[in-house]
Amino acid sequence: MALPEGFIIEIKERNDITDVASSYVNLRKRGRNMVGLCPFHGEKTPSFNIYTENGSFYCFGCGVGGDVITFIMKIENLDYIDAVKFLAQRCGLNMPEDGYDDSMSALKKRIYEANREAARYFYKTLCSSAGRAGLDYFHSRALSDRTIRHFGLGYADESFNSLCDHLRSLGFKSSELIAANLAVQNKNGNIYDRFRDRVMFPIIDLRGNVIAFGGRIMTDQKPKYLNTSDTPVFKKSANLFSLNNAKNSGEKSLILCEGYMDVIAVNQAGFQNAVATLGTALTAEQALLMKRYADEVIICYDSDEAGQKATSRAIELLRRAGLLIKVISIPQGKDPDEFLRNKGSEGHDAFLNVIERSGNDMEYRLQKLRKKYNLDLPEDKVAFLTEAVKILAALDNEIERDVYISKLSKECEVTPDAVKQQMDKYLRRRNYNQRKSVFREMQKNLSGRNDKLNPERYKKPRVTVVEESLLAYLIKNPDRLSFIESQLDESKFQTEFYRKLFIYFSKRIKDNCDPLTEVSADFTQEEVSRIYGLANSETARMANDDTLRENIDVINDEFLKLKTADMSKATNEDISEALQRLRDSHK
Ligand code: CTP
Ligand code: MN
Repeated sequence: MALPEGFIIEIKERNDITDVASSYVNLRKRGRNMVGLCPFHGEKTPSFNIYTENGSFYCFGCGVGGDVITFIMKIENLDYIDAVKFLAQRCGLNMPEDGYDDSMSALKKRIYEANREAARYFYKTLCSSAGRAGLDYFHSRALSDRTIRHFGLGYADESFNSLCDHLRSLGFKSSELIAANLAVQNKNGNIYDRFRDRVMFPIIDLRGNVIAFGGRIMTDQKPKYLNTSDTPVFKKSANLFSLNNAKNSGEKSLILCEGYMDVIAVNQAGFQNAVATLGTALTAEQALLMKRYADEVIICYDSDEAGQKATSRAIELLRRAGLLIKVISIPQGKDPDEFLRNKGSEGHDAFLNVIERSGNDMEYRLQKLRKKYNLDLPEDKVAFLTEAVKILAALDNEIERDVYISKLSKECEVTPDAVKQQMDKYLRRRNYNQRKSVFREMQKNLSGRNDKLNPERYKKPRVTVVEESLLAYLIKNPDRLSFIESQLDESKFQTEFYRKLFIYFSKRIKDNCDPLTEVSADFTQEEVSRIYGLANSETARMANDDTLRENIDVINDEFLKLKTADMSKATNEDISEALQRLRDSHK
């Protein structure tokens, strides 16, 4: 996969990383660099840095880093070539005709096209006599024709091959239909339609592509919903149903529902900002995705036990992503869809009312806790307060904390000071435990037990750090390669990953190329992160000729030690073999 280097350089020049990142992250200046809240993990204090000097980013919180291409790959969920295409389009450059492996990109395009045609076909079937059952079903669930059209709902008929036949007549290959998960293959190698006799919900991404389907059976049979499995264009943990609509709603909040039907019913009642996960529990990735489009999430899960469990879980994830949270409790009926169906034409106002009466996540948690106790009993009161204080400790804002403390004290008829004391006691213990685990984590990192990219760090901590420092220096000062090479070569490196990097950077520099330009194409995302971590490290900034010489000495020293240790363990045979090799090499 080799795009011409000149093209990549131009892509990077024309897509300034600060400009590109600012459309996803609020950045502010700090010194020569820019900082903001990392879009790749939830945080409250900014550790996401943009380095204008070398066009890269690095987050000290989660250790993700790279260039502008890596940034787009990660934030838009694209592979390398598609990220380059994205940036080419952004700055009005044409992609080179060929010279790079475009097969994955081409397959994805075919999958999008097949999905789009499938959605059309399902919709057309729904509107035809063959789709009567499907249309009746949607009507029975109180969906209007307008809503059905707006969401592009459809019907997959009972036949095992109508969609396959249709798509093949349009020129799609069996392999493409299997890759799209629209078809599956039987033992004889024949393919057949995956969705049969189901009403269909297309899942559409933010660029308007149909990326997957959910299909509901119209009886009580199982599974109730069948969803597209993960494909090259669909990762269910990273997408949300109807985010494409919600994004355009103009609202700064999102309504998070459990299912497709809830989202659609809520939309029909006039709230465009509803979304749902795709048949799985909410993920951290989805929480961060929501954070990109909203400040607040209104959780609107089913009022059954599963829904309540999911609510607690969602609160954790959404809080970590830095979102404000409200929790709706649906008064009648199990889920928003039922609630709205019962309300009929009064749905909009009734739902608005429910939203307005919804509490924030603290109130939700306290209320849930309160149900467990009888506050008339003194021992229950104490137990309740002890637990309540733990919940309030999640608040960072002291004023907010005080508000709840005063509420609780009134409710339990104790002085605010008593609650405060309890709170302080808990916070002290929690902070102590947190510091302890941070310290443990630090120790573990220092010992190298956490380093998956460079597992040798654990056994050779000293030399690993020095190799790192040498590499950081080399990236910053490519012109010093010949000096370094006069002092050592790659065989002196003791950790495999850093040896690989040394070889890579040396070659780049000898070819008169910038060491970093192609990194995002040549390494995995974890490796890219590590490399940009090095390139932007304090070590790299502080490195000078003196530290370089010291580092070279240490590397050579450690290498000698290793050889001596080897010899002391050697058997007579090893030694004579080594001598023989030596003699051979002199011949
Ligand atoms: N789901 C799924 N597979 C299942 C069951 C559920 O993927 N076998 C997902 C669907 O996205 C569904 C959501 O989980 O929309 C919620 O499931 P559930 O509460 O059972 O269904 P409802 O949304 O209430 O569906 P309906 O109203 O159509 O019965
Ligand atoms: Mn339902």
